[in-house]
Amino acid sequence: MTLRSRIAGVGSFLPEHVSTNDDMAKIVDTSDEWIVERTGIHVRHFADENTSSSVMAIKAAEQALKAANMTGDDLDMIVVATITPDKTFPSTAVYVQAGLGMKHGYAFDVSAACSGFLYALRAADNAIRLGQAKTALVVGVETLSRITDFKDRNTCVLFGDGAGCVVLRAEEGDGTSADRGVLDTLIYSDGGYAPDLCATGGPSTNHDVGYITMNGREVFRHAAVNMAEVSVEILEKNGVGLDDVDWLVPHQANIRILEATAKRLNIPMEKVISTVGLHANTSAASIPLALAHGVQEGKIKAGQLLLLPGMGAGFTWGASLIRF
Ligand code: UT7
Repeated sequence: MTLRSRIAGVGSFLPEHVSTNDDMAKIVDTSDEWIVERTGIHVRHFADENTSSSVMAIKAAEQALKAANMTGDDLDMIVVATITPDKTFPSTAVYVQAGLGMKHGYAFDVSAACSGFLYALRAADNAIRLGQAKTALVVGVETLSRITDFKDRNTCVLFGDGAGCVVLRAEEGDGTSADRGVLDTLIYSDGGYAPDLCATGGPSTNHDVGYITMNGREVFRHAAVNMAEVSVEILEKNGVGLDDVDWLVPHQANIRILEATAKRLNIPMEKVISTVGLHANTSAASIPLALAHGVQEGKIKAGQLLLLPGMGAGFTWGASLIRF
């Protein structure tokens, strides 16, 4: 018998304010045509000043807990993936813990940018496999608008705010890929590429949160390759074929990256959950937001096999294989 982290519920939250490409064209020299053609993004959501990362995470978590028929106090651990925490310290996760009324267990943040949800999922899945937790909440949440330079057209049109999450519950499986739950998660990083996508500030350098700065072409060049390679690796490691994958639920940075990844994997776009047009790039929130979208749209169904690759600042990258 193998302990598996079964997905008991998914949740999402998007702030009310929607900014269109035409709205962006009012603040920088850009156009709807350029943004759609180069990125596939049509709109993004921006959080108002009272809506912090923990506020969005709590709203998404409440939805996931309801779907799982659980309360906050049924959780043993919370892992929040974010690069836009409420405060430098303590972690955003402890605010989520307090907001959900969870009085035991532990909560912590993970910082791995766009791969953050995969890193957080692996941490929670490992704890469940080791019997250290029976239940876990894994959140990806960002208020990227707080660190976006709205004078830089190269970056400001690309990002959005939001939260997505899953509630995990320990369940015994046979140890085969027929089990439901998180089958495996692989994560990697290469800090040599840190300058290609980073913030211009931080507490121990210039006391400033800074703005996003990116060498877009370099990130683009690595994204599809890394996501495809780690996808092939995780499938081979688990004895699963590409044809067995029901849905590709990738990190949503750019429709061209989604298409290039799907092409490298020989997966048709009909099997790709694509939300980049609706949410833009929400970094750690993008994979769980896409997952929740796929479930809410009735596309992703119980028992289906999901492949979740991601890549982002660090560089960090990875993939998770989940039987929903
Ligand atoms: O989540 C992980 C992190 N992020 C990513 O994965 C993003 C990866 N990169 C990308 O998605 C793409 O590289 C971008 C969308 C950022 C840029 O697309 P591109 O096709 O690589 O464009 P480019 O950088 O080659 O720029 C083409 C032109 C430039 O003008 P010049 O120098 O050729 O005259 C830019 O100045 O487009 C210009 N440009 C814009 N024009 C209108 C850049 N941003 C804009 C804009 N509106 N918003």
